[in-house]
Order: sequence, then structure tokens, then C-alpha cells
Amino acid sequence: MLLPNGIRHLPGYLDRPTQEALVKAIRTVVAEAPLYTPVMPGTGKEMSVRMTNCGPLGWVTDKQRGYRYQQNHPVTGRPWSGIPQQLFDLWSNIAGYEKPPEACLVNFYDDDARMGLHQDRDEQDLAAPVLSISLGNTCLFRVGGLNRNDRTLSFKLSSGDIVLLGGEGRLSFHGVDRIYPATSTLLKNGGRINLTLRRVTP
Ligand code: SIN
Ligand code: FE2
Repeated sequence: MLLPNGIRHLPGYLDRPTQEALVKAIRTVVAEAPLYTPVMPGTGKEMSVRMTNCGPLGWVTDKQRGYRYQQNHPVTGRPWSGIPQQLFDLWSNIAGYEKPPEACLVNFYDDDARMGLHQDRDEQDLAAPVLSISLGNTCLFRVGGLNRNDRTLSFKLSSGDIVLLGGEGRLSFHGVDRIYPATSTLLKNGGRINLTLRRVTP
């Protein structure tokens, strides 16, 4: 399948032991910075995905202040914990960007969660790609162009797959239409974890 320019899909990039090690590292992150339910700016509508972050900066959203990066967890007020070393290594192997990532957004999808079509555009540095890692159940990922109404195409992301949104594709609209239950044995209680590594400041 031909993806729009700048979008790369690396199916099965992470082997099972690497996926297990990442899940373990993410459990440590979540123990320090619990998953919480983000809400949309303006409407205050709850998202179906639960979120946390690691790194010096984390992406957050709330009704009053909208989408932004901040240094502290919005519920506990504590600084985010560090990005696990495995993720820095992955970034240096595939992002092709000299500076390290500053934020790792952790999205947890239970089997009926989804994520509407959106752009990742809250970063000041748009030269760096967004590196996205899928763990657990398979999802149907949708990607379009630079305008919300552009044609989209959909493909499945399985555990261990990586997607890069870079170059001309950095601001492509994308979203997750659905999760396919019981398609992976990686996560004991099902669901899907998506990690996105981002460079925020120039
Ligand atoms: C996101 O766009 O933040 C998440 C994408 C995904 O879950 O694959
Ligand atoms: Fe996104």
C-alpha cells in the first residue's frame, strides 16, 4: 500500500521480548504517573482513551486551557518520570533526528476506545518526526492529508508496529477507528497501548 509522502509503517519492527520489556517499562511509568481521562477543550467531553506521559514534557488537554505541553501531571501535580532508555534507543535508530525526544505520550485504549481524526501540531519543532509504537491489540489506523477533508486510507497496526509521521506527512490528519479485541496476548487485560515520541522545543 502506498502511504502519503513522509509516512512510514514499519510492521513488526519490535520483536516479542522487546515489546514485553517496553510494557514493563510503561508499567513503571504508569505507577508513578497514573493514567487519567483527558477532556476536549471547550466542550469538556471526555476522550475514550486514557493518557499519561513520560519525559521532561507531557501532552495534556483540559476544558479550560486546551491542548498543550507541560512539565507536570495534571492530576498529581508531579513532574513526569523519565523516558525509558529503550525509547531513546529506538528514536536514535529510526527518527533520523539529532535531538532527543522530550515527550512520550502514553495512550491506553480499552477495546471500545477510539481516537478521532486530528493533527499533532502542538509541538514547536515540526522538523522532528512523531514516532509511534503500537503494543497489544491490533487497531485500525486512518491517515489522510493536510486538510481534514482530504481522502484517507486505513490500515491495521499490530503489536510491535511502528509508524513515523515525518517530512511532508508530519501534519497529516490521523486517528484510530477501532480496536480489535483479543488480537494480541501481550497485555494481560487486553486493550492497546500506543506510545508517541515527540520533540517539542526547537
Ligand atoms: C495518536 O495520534 O496520539 C495516537 C495514534 C495511535 O494510537 O496509533
Ligand atoms: Fe496523533
